[in-house]
Amino acid sequence: MHLPNHKIGRNDPCWCGSGRKYKACHMAFDEKIKSFARQGIEVPDHKLLKSAKDIEGIKESAKINMACLDNVAAAIHAGMSTEEIDKIVYDTTIRMGGTPACLNYEGFPKSVCTSVNDEVCHGIPSDKAILKDGDIINVDCSTILDGYFSDSSRMFLIGDVSPEKKKLVEVTRECVEIGIKNVIPWTPMGNMGAAVHQHALENGYTIVREIGGHGCGIEFHEDPFVSYVSKPGEGMLMVPGMCFTIEPMVNMGGDDIYEDSGNGWTIYTEDGSPSAQWEVQVVVTEDGCEILAH
Ligand code: MF3
Ligand code: CO
Repeated sequence: MHLPNHKIGRNDPCWCGSGRKYKACHMAFDEKIKSFARQGIEVPDHKLLKSAKDIEGIKESAKINMACLDNVAAAIHAGMSTEEIDKIVYDTTIRMGGTPACLNYEGFPKSVCTSVNDEVCHGIPSDKAILKDGDIINVDCSTILDGYFSDSSRMFLIGDVSPEKKKLVEVTRECVEIGIKNVIPWTPMGNMGAAVHQHALENGYTIVREIGGHGCGIEFHEDPFVSYVSKPGEGMLMVPGMCFTIEPMVNMGGDDIYEDSGNGWTIYTEDGSPSAQWEVQVVVTEDGCEILAH
């Protein structure tokens, strides 16, 4: 557990960079965090708390990220390859002055993840993967602009999709909405994850355990890991200024998954059932959260 810095004096400049004295700035805030830590609750380190300037930077990055997904939404259709989706994301990002965060990330070869049907996440765009009538696809986009990261994903229905798959996509969207409503400052993240999980279970679905959301903004993947199979009272305290993603992967069947041994990236459902995911990036505020990217 990381406790806030104890050594800073009352009259020293605040750690947040405001230029104000610590006692007039974040001292009471740090005392509040410390009181939770003393109760055994995991609390964020200062480096996870974004300044107003950081939030502005993330929002500028998110404009590009959301433009990529808007452009994909306008063009996606049956008969299109996922490679063409990659081109839309790459071209949009570069034209707007950003860098695709996925491209070359730990060797990932493309600018976006395209995950179809039983692909849970990290699908690799390919000219051989042609979208067909009845498919559901997650397009997961991440952008770097001036050192700031944004990350969001959306589902798309291709042509005539079965009612079962449509419902999966809709319930997964509701799961994210429930997550957003449950970002309550000064409560543990496990409460939010448990609410998301409950909605999936109530609809007869499961949520992937091993992969989830993450802090995001200054780095692509920061602490904490954001689980949706968590228990109330568990996990890191949600403190104003924290930025993270809400991105549950909801399976129509069981929660078991496996990784493609050929490409080392793509995750599939073990039982071949469809999987859906929506992703938003939020910042915790004084009275809830603000959506930075969707
Ligand atoms: N965008 C994904 C996420 O939500 C990460 C993809 S990493 C990649 O965390 F390398 F596969 F692109
Ligand atoms: Co993410």
